[in-house]
This record gives sequence, structure tokens and C-alpha cells, in this order.
Amino acid sequence: MPYRGDVKVKLNNGIEIPIVGTGAFDFPDKYPTTKGWLSSALKNGYRHIDTARMYGTEKFVGEVIRESGIPREQIFVTTKLSPLDHGRVQAAFQESLDDLGLEYVDLYLIHWPQTWASNTDGSGKAAKNPNGSNKTLDTPNFVEAWVEVEKILASGKTKSIGVSNFSVKTLEVLLKTAKVVPAINQIELHPYLAQNDLRDYCNRKGIVLTAYTPSGYDKVRNDPLINELANKYNATANQITLAWHLSRNTVIVPKSSDNGRQKENINLPEVSEEDLAKIWHLDRGERQCNKANPTHHTVWGWTYEQLGWEDYHAPVREETSKL
Ligand SMILES: NC(=O)c1ccc[n+]([C@@H]2O[C@H](COP(=O)([O-])OP(=O)(O)OC[C@H]3O[C@@H](n4cnc5c(N)ncnc54)[C@H](OP(=O)(O)O)[C@@H]3O)[C@@H](O)[C@H]2O)c1
Repeated sequence: MPYRGDVKVKLNNGIEIPIVGTGAFDFPDKYPTTKGWLSSALKNGYRHIDTARMYGTEKFVGEVIRESGIPREQIFVTTKLSPLDHGRVQAAFQESLDDLGLEYVDLYLIHWPQTWASNTDGSGKAAKNPNGSNKTLDTPNFVEAWVEVEKILASGKTKSIGVSNFSVKTLEVLLKTAKVVPAINQIELHPYLAQNDLRDYCNRKGIVLTAYTPSGYDKVRNDPLINELANKYNATANQITLAWHLSRNTVIVPKSSDNGRQKENINLPEVSEEDLAKIWHLDRGERQCNKANPTHHTVWGWTYEQLGWEDYHAPVREETSKL
């Protein structure tokens, strides 16, 4: 299977991002193993790492980069502003740089549009409403946080800036006052959640999409069409899904802590246009990762309406599938 780690996508500022990166989320009880699999990802040819302040893995990312001996400029590093830090963006960014032990990052994202209130007990965790949802604040909002993120871009300590989990609705608000158009919007995206309307919008605005949960987990891995194509191309289900993303010029950040699956996710088959078109028809607006909590109906404190996450069944349109 052809190696895709050297394929790049050009951002609206001229900077290129490797189209395949490795996710760097891990659960705290797995931290003792995180460095091991991140280091294996670099050995398997990943040159783009997607971390976040909230993941608690920035220090491992920095260490594996230094220990790898690969020149810093050959690895694209993304980290993200926590929704707890919208009122202290400069300090939070510096904490990220310190944990990474890097002079700069390649991309800094606002992780979520909503701002969380902090617990007053000093635990550094989000405050909760009585129904268990995260308590959110109206100010500082993401527009105010973006002004601070733009200042970091101007300082040169991040090469590009962007957002995550933004919709047409929240991007419209941001773009009213933004001096810099986000280079990236990182969102949940896979064949069951093709996000065609948001994709069209971002294409028009010059915003590149990064897909998180690019595999769509077992739901998509077990899909009959995906498996039929996997057999046809002598590939795995994950590889077919990831090849589909690449055909749409979407950046992907699959995460695997397994050496063999890391290899799978960066060495991807060529799939015919005709077969790729079939995958477009699997879209059903179905989220697998971040979805409304069944008790309080919010995603980390905001409703779908606040997020602008309409759960529509976007039809496959001829003009979209050609993009
Ligand atoms: N911006 C955001 O709000 C946000 C939200 C979620 C995620 N993210 C980013 O996106 C990254 C990836 O997201 P994700 O973990 O949700 O999605 P994912 O990479 O699509 O799925 C990861 C899961 O699939 C398994 N897997 C990976 N490759 C496989 C393969 N070839 N065959 C079978 N199973 C495979 C992994 O298990 P093994 O590890 O055992 O292989 C893991 O359970 C995260 O690490 C993070 O960097 C961002």
C-alpha cells in the first residue's frame, strides 16, 4: 500500500500540513504507555501529531520528538486551547509550550466554541450544573478568545491558527470580526457523518477540514459496503475509510496505540472514483464520538442548537462529490 505520510495539504496561509497525522489523545490511566506508542508512530512515518492541553499528553509529545532525533521542523505539531482557558489564553498557550518543551507549535486551535466555568475547588476541572452538564460562561466567548489567539500567531510562536468543533453557525459569528480566517476546522468526520454542508462552507472560506474520529469506530468498520470494498482492495475497513478522507482532501488524525494498526493507517490503498462515490451514500448524520448526553442533552455544556450541529441527513450532491 502506498505510504501517505508525505502527502501535504496547503493551508490558507501557504503552510503545508501532512494529510495524515497521529492523534495523541490517551486516557490518564494509559499515560505510562503513551510515549511508547507515540514513538512507534514516528518510526512508522507519522510526521504530524495532534495533541491538546486537555489530553494531558503534551509532555509526552515533546519528549518523543526530542528523543526521535528527527529535526523539529520535519514534524507538524498541533495543540489546542482548553475551553477552561478562554479567559487566560496567553498563559495557557505558554503552559502548552512549556509542557511540549518546544519553541513554537505549527497549529494552535480553539478546542471548543463554548467556554467552561472552572470549579472553585482548585481542582482545575470544569464546574457542573445540577443536571451534570458543564457550566458554561457567556464571556469570555470564542470571539474574545480568538483575538488572543491571533496575537499568538503574530508573535510567531504558532505558525497557524484554527478552530475545532465549529459549525457554519459559530464560524459565521467568528468571521464577522476575525482578522485572520482560521486555517483549519477540526471536526468529527467519517462516512456516517460526512458533514457536506459544513465542508462546502469551509471550502468557500478557505478553511481546511481535519477529521477527528476519522475511522467512525466499529460502526463504520463493520459497515457492509466498507467491508466489501476492503475485500476488493485487499485492505482493511479502516484503510478504505481513511482512503476516502484523502480523496476528499481532508486531513486525518487517526489514533492507534498498536504498531500494526499505525502502519495500516498511514499506508493506504488507491480506491476508484466509482467506489469512493458509493461511500458518499453512507452519510447519515450519525456522530460516534461527541454526541448529546442523553440526560442533559448537551455536548460538554452546549446544546446542538448552540453548537449549530443540526443533525440532518445531508443528501449526496453531484457537485459536492467532485470537490
Ligand atoms: N478536536 C476534538 O474535539 C477531538 C475529539 C476527538 C478526537 N480528537 C483527535 O482525533 C484523534 C483520533 O480520534 P479518535 O481516537 O476518536 O478516532 P479514531 O482514530 O478514528 O479511532 C481510534 C480507535 O480506533 C482503533 N483503531 C485505530 N486504527 C485502527 C485500525 N486500523 N483497525 C482497527 N481499529 C483501529 C483504536 O484502537 P487502538 O489504539 O487499539 O488501535 C481506537 O480505539 C484523537 O487522538 C485526537 O487527537 C479530537
